[in-house]
Amino acid sequence: MELSGKLVVVTGAARGIGRALVMELAKSGCGLVLTALEEEELKSLEEELRKYSVSVASMPADLSDPASRMNLINWILSLPMNPDILINNAGIGGLFGKFEDVDLRIIEAVIAINISALVHITHELIPALKKRPRAKIVNISSGIARLPYPGLAVYGATKGFISSFSESLTCELAGTSVSVLCFHPGFSMTHFIGSSRMDMRKIPRWMIHTPEEIASRVVLAMRKDRQWDYSDLTTMLAAWLGANIPSRMKTRIFKNLFWRLPDAK
Ligand SMILES: NC(=O)c1ccc[n+]([C@@H]2O[C@H](COP(=O)([O-])OP(=O)(O)OC[C@H]3O[C@@H](n4cnc5c(N)ncnc54)[C@H](OP(=O)(O)O)[C@@H]3O)[C@@H](O)[C@H]2O)c1
Repeated sequence: MELSGKLVVVTGAARGIGRALVMELAKSGCGLVLTALEEEELKSLEEELRKYSVSVASMPADLSDPASRMNLINWILSLPMNPDILINNAGIGGLFGKFEDVDLRIIEAVIAINISALVHITHELIPALKKRPRAKIVNISSGIARLPYPGLAVYGATKGFISSFSESLTCELAGTSVSVLCFHPGFSMTHFIGSSRMDMRKIPRWMIHTPEEIASRVVLAMRKDRQWDYSDLTTMLAAWLGANIPSRMKTRIFKNLFWRLPDAK
């Protein structure tokens, strides 16, 4: 897909992978419709984007709140042009720890942002996307989507949802102008990792990527009209192995991986 001149909606645009994606898209000549939680972060991003001569509009919204989501959707639909691309990037991990010990309110926020918001925004924007001659939905999942993720069990499951949902949407939208890309990033040292308080010290350096590296792979996958992609070979191989070894073996391996829980035996 040629990206120049396309209007792209990006959620979670202000930091990390989202911010790096916005920069890549601006360099490619895309118009941008941006949202994140914090207004100030969005304003600083708009300021940074001034050096590119692309149109930028932004609105803060709390994606964990259905009313705030609806305001955002109505604002997007009231813009003079329909979007060509929707990038569902916003996501939180919650707090690293045993499922039973994590505060239920945090767990509910993870489900609301990672699943409910993505489904809500996608549902409401598909009719507008279908009006464009070529359109795309990009869902940012995770390399862990179909693997166990002890310590971030609900987060991992939300990413499994996103990957499954993306495949079903791909089937349903076949024959329309809208295609779907489900992208699976590996680790990146963003605010996401800091706020989940995951201990990254044992994770080999070569497994950690910059947000810019991940963003450039997402944009390449968009240009090549890929339906399913990973940020790097290790993430792809881990996902492939996870899908092809028996569950008992998989859980044994993942129970003792780098991010093991302190009391894992
Ligand atoms: N980092 C990794 O290792 C990794 C690995 C695999 C997949 N991913 C996925 O990549 C995506 C981006 O992650 P990241 O690492 O770039 O995270 P990040 O740096 O923490 O950025 C998350 C973005 O989501 C926004 N956001 C958070 N809570 C929100 C809410 N309640 N309402 C609206 N927006 C909200 C944030 O807005 P503010 O800036 O305003 O707070 C921020 O712009 C996520 O879907 C994540 O699951 C990340």
